[in-house]
Amino acid sequence: MNDHMTLSKAADHAREFLDSLDSRSIAPIANVSDLRSALFKPLNDAGLPADEVIDDLVRDTRDGLLGSTSGRFFGWVIGGVLPVTLAADWLTSAWDQNAAIYATSPAAAAVEEVCGEWLKSLLGLPASASFGLLTGTQSAHTVALAAARNKLLIERGWDVNTKGLMGAPRMRILTGAHRHESVLRSIRLLGLGTEALEIVDVDASGRIRLDSLKVALQAGENEPAVVCLQAGDLNAGVFDPFTEAGRIAHDAGAWVHVDGAFGLWAGASEHNRYLVEGVGAADSWATDCHKWLNVPFDSGFVFVADPEAHKSALTQDASYTIKVEETRDQMEWNLEWSRRSRGFTVYAALRNLGRSGVAELVERCCGHAHRLVTEIGDLDGAHVLAEPQINQGLVQFTSNEGNHDRRTDEVIAKIVASGEAWFGGTTWNGIRAMRVSVCNWRTTDEDVDRAIACVRGILAGV
Ligand SMILES: Cc1ncc(COP(=O)(O)O)c(C=O)c1O
Repeated sequence: MNDHMTLSKAADHAREFLDSLDSRSIAPIANVSDLRSALFKPLNDAGLPADEVIDDLVRDTRDGLLGSTSGRFFGWVIGGVLPVTLAADWLTSAWDQNAAIYATSPAAAAVEEVCGEWLKSLLGLPASASFGLLTGTQSAHTVALAAARNKLLIERGWDVNTKGLMGAPRMRILTGAHRHESVLRSIRLLGLGTEALEIVDVDASGRIRLDSLKVALQAGENEPAVVCLQAGDLNAGVFDPFTEAGRIAHDAGAWVHVDGAFGLWAGASEHNRYLVEGVGAADSWATDCHKWLNVPFDSGFVFVADPEAHKSALTQDASYTIKVEETRDQMEWNLEWSRRSRGFTVYAALRNLGRSGVAELVERCCGHAHRLVTEIGDLDGAHVLAEPQINQGLVQFTSNEGNHDRRTDEVIAKIVASGEAWFGGTTWNGIRAMRVSVCNWRTTDEDVDRAIACVRGILAGV
């Protein structure tokens, strides 16, 4: 079998999978021992034909795939894959370009450069900011906080690049209670230690309290501090007040970092833009393309207002690299050397959707999330905990015996077991809740109807 036949076979399998999305169970139907016994064959001595490997791979994994690319998957914040980005992703693998530096693939470097510029303009970030295309928000936080750490410590006469952190001035990281855990991991990785984290009070809606932020910053005058703000928290999609919080932080000499894994995309929609007002005045931003832009994993951007701070945290050199005048070497702005040319899929998504298409995608998902939360919340035995202001919301299921937490987990488990829709659970303000998240282009009104009907049936004991 030649290359073409293997590729055609893989394309047939992919088509078959996508065509089955409406009818297959969203929850995987295989358990771990089914999967292990199907996949854990003795490692063969002789190689196998490519088409046989592909057929086996499809057969042995089929029942263990989560239908997270389905229009009725509302768990975590997992975007779908636009047809154009899937096609560009196939080409990315076929071209197999190493996007380390300009010389390893001029096309990959140029495409990535264009994507960074387009995104700044789309998301309302300063045109002068630098950017890096990374694996996701986790790595974007790490790069942004490395830039912040280095700059804040240089300003205090301490060069982390040469001296390390032993003996360095203590750093503080201030954030609201609803931060994503990925911030904490970046803090640990950067040697700042979790004791650097200080939780600032939030108001009833989950937004950081300005008076508390001010008091907290005053308590450590002249100490290097980063204030991490949230553009869309993972439970209720809450946005911090960027203009005021940013001003307070800057007045205290702090660096402002924004976790906008999905919420930063509100800036692409005229209707939702008010939520990110003032976000452009921050010092760094992290966001994902594999969520709301619907490109395949793994794809996220970091933006840094001070390009020098960004570059000095990452820059390196080696005798065998090739520098080409007036070009952009991606390696200077991200964590990797050899890397996938992730820019092709982002480029394809942005060209395919255009500004209005991105805005429409964002608004459509928000509409679906609103319907899901409010219509499920209206059912007997359900209750809205957090009405979505964007694409995230929370519902609680109630029990006559009063154990609402147990009832909520029980109903979620039944929905998942039905295979008809998929929602996840969370603990929010101390109570169990069902999270509703919509960020897949594939979700239609019919998907929303089907998901609501599924929940209605479960609550009615059908
Ligand atoms: C608000 C928020 N921040 C950070 C992350 C981490 O992003 P990633 O999984 O791309 O590293 C997520 C992921 O769901 C998120 O929702």
